[in-house]
Amino acid sequence: MVQSLEVRGRTPAQVRLRRRFLRFVPVRAGQRVLEVGCGSGVVVRDLAALVGPRGEVVGIDPSRSMVEAARALARTHALRRRMRWRVAPGASLPFAGGRFDATLAVTVLLHVADPEAVVREMVRVTRPGGRVAVQDQDFGTVAVTHPDRASTERIMWGVATRMYEEPHSGRRLPALLRAAGLEGVRLLTDVFQDTTLEPFAKSFLERRAANAVSFGIVDAPAAQKWLDGFTELVALGDFVLTFNYYGAVGVKPHAGPRRGPATR
Ligand SMILES: C[S@@+](CC[C@H](N)C(=O)[O-])C[C@H]1O[C@@H](n2cnc3c(N)ncnc32)[C@H](O)[C@@H]1O
Repeated sequence: MVQSLEVRGRTPAQVRLRRRFLRFVPVRAGQRVLEVGCGSGVVVRDLAALVGPRGEVVGIDPSRSMVEAARALARTHALRRRMRWRVAPGASLPFAGGRFDATLAVTVLLHVADPEAVVREMVRVTRPGGRVAVQDQDFGTVAVTHPDRASTERIMWGVATRMYEEPHSGRRLPALLRAAGLEGVRLLTDVFQDTTLEPFAKSFLERRAANAVSFGIVDAPAAQKWLDGFTELVALGDFVLTFNYYGAVGVKPHAGPRRGPATR
């Protein structure tokens, strides 16, 4: 898992998607930022570069082994002293209210049974006027070329519905933030695209094939034949894989009526 997150993190199309989302939030120099579900720390390392030497980034994840891997991967980073790591679930954040200028969850909520509870906690630990930002893939948007369309749909959708709590999470993020009481909710739709079966796309499709076998959707020879279909398309230059990422951001309201500028 750590390795696949790092491979994804290094993939140029993914670097662009992630950085576009962080600019959209936006995260600024000197801020205190929390990333919920930090995994191996790919996003925390980008955030550290944005908040700089006067800022602070905290990564939390319920998986102790993920947090240990993230800490180890950050050990040689120039801004490692600006990064903190904690083991905790998103629905129970170990921080006082209003501690962060921005709170993010990147490709996390689609895995979570109760995303409302995680967003509620993200809102609580964000200061009034601060931002809560979430980004997810939406596996209802996968478009991929393959000679056997029926098997492709059965595998892709069959695996997605068994692997994720909400494979359509991406398109639902703006509603989730509005329901949590955030104001000025905005949406950024972005597309991951690959035409060469580069390492991230290759391992993504290989994991789909392996999962399809373990979920009993197809048997092992059928899964291998399905993977071979992609290799043939790549050789012809006809391979296309795309899917959408949705990023949503909202502002935590100030309690009570806001005071305007002083008048006499
Ligand atoms: C796909 S990884 C994303 C890691 C990182 N945000 C990134 O984009 O590279 C999803 C992470 O969410 C974490 N996670 C799962 N359930 C969670 C929950 N309820 N609260 C917080 N994190 C959770 C997992 O342990 C995993 O590290």
